[in-house]
Amino acid sequence: MEKYYLTTPLYYVNASPHIGHAYTNVISDCAARFNRLNNKEVFFLTGTDEHGEKIKKAAEQAGVDTETFIEEKVLVFKDLWKKLHISEHFFIRTSQKFHVDVVQKAIKFLSDKGDIYKSEYEGYYCIPCESFWTKTQVQEAGGCPECKRNIEKIVEENYFFKLSKYSGWLKNYIRDNPDFIKPKIRYNEVVGFLENNSLEDLCISRPKRRVSWGIDFPLDDKYVVYVWFDALLNYISGVGFGTDKDKFKKWWPADIQFIGKDILRHHAVVWPVMLKALDIEPPRTVFAHGWWKIEAVKISKSKGNIVNPLELMEQIGADSLRYFLLREITIGMDGNYSWEGIVNRINSDLANDFGNLIFRVLNMTEKYFQAKVNCPVEWRVPPEFAPFVGDSDLKQAYMKSMNALDFPAALEKVWGFIKIMNKYIEDMKPWILWKEKDIEKLCSFLWSLLEGIRIVSVYIFPFMPRTACSIAGQLGCRLDESRISLDMSKDYNVYWTRKSFETKKGLPLFPRIDVN
Ligand code: MSP
Repeated sequence: MEKYYLTTPLYYVNASPHIGHAYTNVISDCAARFNRLNNKEVFFLTGTDEHGEKIKKAAEQAGVDTETFIEEKVLVFKDLWKKLHISEHFFIRTSQKFHVDVVQKAIKFLSDKGDIYKSEYEGYYCIPCESFWTKTQVQEAGGCPECKRNIEKIVEENYFFKLSKYSGWLKNYIRDNPDFIKPKIRYNEVVGFLENNSLEDLCISRPKRRVSWGIDFPLDDKYVVYVWFDALLNYISGVGFGTDKDKFKKWWPADIQFIGKDILRHHAVVWPVMLKALDIEPPRTVFAHGWWKIEAVKISKSKGNIVNPLELMEQIGADSLRYFLLREITIGMDGNYSWEGIVNRINSDLANDFGNLIFRVLNMTEKYFQAKVNCPVEWRVPPEFAPFVGDSDLKQAYMKSMNALDFPAALEKVWGFIKIMNKYIEDMKPWILWKEKDIEKLCSFLWSLLEGIRIVSVYIFPFMPRTACSIAGQLGCRLDESRISLDMSKDYNVYWTRKSFETKKGLPLFPRIDVN
C-alpha cells in the first residue's frame, strides 16, 4: 500500500484558534480522507507550538502560570479538531520530552559537523512574529514587515546555523524539483527571493535573560533554542525520528506539508536546509495556502477581526463550515469571509440542491414503497446517469481535481450529478407514474436515485464526513470509515449484490439559514 504522510503547521498557543487556523486543518483533513479513500496508508500530523516569549507574555496577561495557560489552550485546539472531525493520527506538542530530545540532539549533531558557531548578533527582532529582520527590511516596512508593529534593535551574542553554506544546494534543489513548492506563484516567490538575496546564517539561540520560555540550548545553558528551529523539527520527531527508526523510514519524506503563505520562507528555505544539514531528504511538497480575509484584511488576532470557528459551528454545524471553507476558495488563493457568503453557499448548494434531493427521494420511497425499494430485476443505469455512476467521467474528473487539491472543482463535478438527479425527478414525473400505477418504472426510477445519492455520499466523504455517514444511514447502508473506498467498480459490484434500500428519514441534513 502506498503511504501518504501529511502535516499541518503547529499552532501557537498564545491565543485560541480562529477560522484561519481551522482552514489549514480542514484542507489537510480533506486531503487525508481523500487519500485514505484512494487506498493509501495515511499518517496525518498536527499539533501545537508551545515555546517562545509571546506565549509566556500571553499567560502573564491572562494572570495564569505559563504551564496552566498552555494546557488550557491545547484543550481548546483539541476540542476544535474533534468537533470539526479532523482525523489526525498524532497531535504533537513541542513541549513533549521526545521532541525536546530530538531538538537537542539535532543541534549537537550540527555543531559536531561544524554547522553551528557563536557570534555577535545585531539586528531587529519582532516578538509577536518570532522573526528576525534586517535593517533594510525594517526601514522599508516602517516596522515589522509582517505585522507592522514597532520593532526593537538588539545586539547580543548568539549561536548561528550555517544556512548560507547550503544556499547553492538549495537553489539547485528547488530548480530540479518543481513540485517542491506549490502553488506555482509561491514557487516563483521563493526562486525570486533566492535570486535577489544571499542567504544569511540563521540565529538559532536566544539568551535566557531575554527569552526564558524554550528548549534549553544543549551547547550553552545560558540560552534557549529559537522557537522556529525547535518547531520545524516536529515534522520528523512526530514520525519517529530519534525514537523509532522503522517508523521514520516508513513515513519520511512527508508527501505534503500544508502551511499558510505567511510561513513560506521558514518552510521552503530554512526547513529543507536544516534537513540537508541533518542528512535527511526534504519533504516532497510544501503547499502554501492563501489567507481568509474580511474586507481585504487578513483575519488575525493582531487585527482584532477574528472569527471563532467553535461559535460559528454552533450556528451552522461542522460539516457546513467545512463545506464552505473547501468550496469557497481555490486553495492557494485568498478568500473573503462573510456571513452572506456562508448563507448563500449553505442555502443554495446544501439546502436547495442536495438537501432537497435527499428529502424528495426519501419521501417518495416512503410514500410509494413503504421505505423499502428492492433492486429491480431489469435495472439499467439511466442514460442521464451514465457519466456519473461507477468508473465514470465523474470519477475521473473528481480524482484529477482531488489529486491536484482543487477542492472546489471536485465539488462542482459532484454537484453536476446532484443537479442531474434533481432534473431527472422533474423529467420523470414520478407522481404521474404513481397515478398510472407503473410500479416497475417507479421502482427503477427510485433505485437509480437512491444509488446516485449513495455514490455522492462516498464522494463527499472527505469534505463532510459526518453528513456522508448520516446519508448512508438514511439509505439503510453503513458507511464504514475504515473500508470506504473510491474503487467504484468494486463498490458498484456491491450494488449488484445488494437487494434493497431500506430508508430511514432523519432530521433535515442542511436546515436553511434564515437570512435575517
Ligand atoms: N507556530 C507557527 C508555525 C510553526 S510550524 C513548524 C505559526 N503558527 S500560527 O498559529 O501563527 O499559524 C498557523 C497557521 O495558521 C499558519 O499556516 C498560518 O498561515 C495560518 N493562518 C493564520 N491566519 C490565517 C488566515 N487569516 N487565513 C488562513 N490561514 C491563516 O505560524
